[in-house]
Formats: sequence, structure tokens, C-alpha cells
Amino acid sequence: MIPINKPQIDENEREEILKVLDEGILTSASFSGGKRVQDFERLLANFLHVKHAIAVNSGTAALHSSILAAGIKEGDEILIPSFTFVATANSVACTGAKPVFVDIEKDTYTINPQSLKNKVSKKTRAIIPVHLYGHPAKMDEILDFARKYSLLVIEDACQSLGSSYDGKQTGSLGEMGCFSMYASKVLTSGEGGAITTNSDEFAEKLRMIRNHGMVEGYDTRILGFNMRLPEISAAIAKTQMKKLESMLYKRTTNAKKLQELLRNKIDNHEIVLPQENQRVKYNWYLYTVAFNNLRNRVKKLLNDNGIGATIYYDPPVHQTPYYSKFDSGDLKMTEWASKSVLSLPVHPSLSENDLNFIALKVEEAIKS
Ligand SMILES: Cc1ncc(COP(=O)(O)O)c(C=O)c1O
Repeated sequence: MIPINKPQIDENEREEILKVLDEGILTSASFSGGKRVQDFERLLANFLHVKHAIAVNSGTAALHSSILAAGIKEGDEILIPSFTFVATANSVACTGAKPVFVDIEKDTYTINPQSLKNKVSKKTRAIIPVHLYGHPAKMDEILDFARKYSLLVIEDACQSLGSSYDGKQTGSLGEMGCFSMYASKVLTSGEGGAITTNSDEFAEKLRMIRNHGMVEGYDTRILGFNMRLPEISAAIAKTQMKKLESMLYKRTTNAKKLQELLRNKIDNHEIVLPQENQRVKYNWYLYTVAFNNLRNRVKKLLNDNGIGATIYYDPPVHQTPYYSKFDSGDLKMTEWASKSVLSLPVHPSLSENDLNFIALKVEEAIKS
């Protein structure tokens, strides 16, 4: 079996977890968080070149707390893609604000900046670009648009740790960046998340929100929740940070190899390969291709051969039962993508044989 993703856990994580258990301090409800939470935050902030990182217990909590910290409330609107994991939309909806869906571009599966102007209104307060599959969204155009309309930009970088745009890390480009450390992600703590920001004000609010709005004990100053990251999770995350560069390097090597194999084996008309350009660097969280007609056939043959080829996301959020009640208008490219994409494994545990086997099976499915 070749899974779509695989956590990279070794002796170092095991040792760190045992140290936490031996010390017996499993979490901290202090404003700054536990020792390992703080270590992880420092490592993440340094990696991304941002002033603050605030660890929380999921990517969803990262998004939810950012929206609260931004002061967004019932009646406000936030522009988001529908082609994303539903957590992006749920984090908006649970604050009472309205998610307004915008279409995506074919080459990156991320927000089409042109479609923002069709959906912006007097109620719009923010944009949440999602760097889907690790592909950075067109941040220069999105940031220009946001400035023009005085909107905040909260990046959903849950899938894009290590991806960059014009040399800057995703998650460091908007007012806040949100990361997930869910088990499948390039860096994991099982469950976990983080928000990054250069704003002292947002950082302070986010630290309060993750801990019931408290600063010095029972002094709830703003609305908050329990979004704290436990020390065992922080110990895993902190250890993973130390090998992040090498894990990203392995993913990149695997993705380039698979790209080369598929390009050589398969006619361009049959398959849309990931499009790279000078301005972006992918973390290769997922290697996602698209087929105009053959997607389901390729997926079946790969799955039958033990390859965890996976479809993310069909249906798109606006076509799920809960979100169908929102008026979403025309989202042509989103609907095309949801019927066409297929993600293939390129995680660091793959061997050259695995990559050859994946490419061979894609070729076989197309030619059968
Ligand atoms: C694009 C996107 N946004 C948000 C999330 C939510 O993160 P989590 O599962 O850690 O809550 C995920 C995680 O899968 C995601 O992929």
C-alpha cells in the first residue's frame, strides 16, 4: 500500500514525548502556553520570518480565532474559495459572518483574483485565500485588491507550510496566516495548528482567544475558547520543525521525479500537470493532476493497485447540503476542478520504485 500521505515519525519524536510524560506537565493554561508550545512557536516564527506564532489545537481553531481576532461578526461577509476543505467555510460561518464563495484559477486551484470584484460588497470585511495543495494563491493581486477595498487578508496556509510566493513564505503575506498540523500535513502533531502574524495587537488577542479570553487567571477579557495545544503535541511539532527542510526537500525531489515520468509517458491532452512558475515555490503537500474525462477510471485502477490516489474536493463546499442554501452564483472553474482533480502521493517515505509504479499505473489507466 502506498498511502497518500504518511507522518514522518522517528526516535526523536518518541524521546521528546517521553520527556513530557516524565516531567508530568501535560499542558499549560498560562497566557504564553507551555514550555514546548513556546519552543515550537519560536521555531515556526523563525522559519516563516514573522514576529509571532501562536500555537492552537487545530487548523480550524487557527482560522476561527483569526476571524474573531479581526473583530469579524454576524452580518459581515468574507470572500473565500469554495474549492477547499470545509473548515475554511465553517470557521467563517460559526462566527455568524457569511462566507461568500469566489471562483478559482485553473493553473493553481486557488482564488481567481478577477472573481473577487464580482463578489465584494459593502459588507465584505476580509478575504481568506487558501493555498490549496500547497500552491500559493496570487497574493500580489489579492493584496492589491484587499488594500483597494480596505479588507483584511487571512491566509489559509493549512496545506502550504514551506511554500513561498515571491520569496516570502505563505502565512507571512497577509495580516494573519493559519496553519494545520493534522496527521496528513507536511509537518504534524497529530492534531494541531498555529496562527502567524506581524501584528502585536492580533498576537495578544489570539493568545487570549485560545485560553478563554484570559490573561492572568479568571479575568476573561474577550470571548475565547479552549484552543490550547497540549505539550505532547507541541513536543512532536517542535521535533518535526527541526527536520522540516529535509522533509520538504524529499517531497520536492519526489514531485519533480513524478512530473518528469508523467510528462514523458503521457500525452499533454490527457492530463493537466501541476504548473510551476518563477514566482512560486511549492511545498508539494499534494501532487495534484487533472483529467478532463478519465479521472475516475485512473483513480480506480490506482486504488486497485494499492496506491492511495485521492480526490480533494468533490463536492466543493458550495455544493454540500449545508452550504447549498447560500447563493453562490457561477463557480465554473470550481465545478470543473471538483470533477477533474486527482492527488497522487509524493510524501518523503516514497522510494524511486514507488514513483515509477505510480507513473506506470497512471499510464496504464489512460491507455486501457
Ligand atoms: C485548506 C484547509 N483549511 C483548514 C483545515 C483545517 O485544519 P484542521 O483539520 O487541523 O482543523 C485544513 C485541514 O485539513 C485544510 O486543509
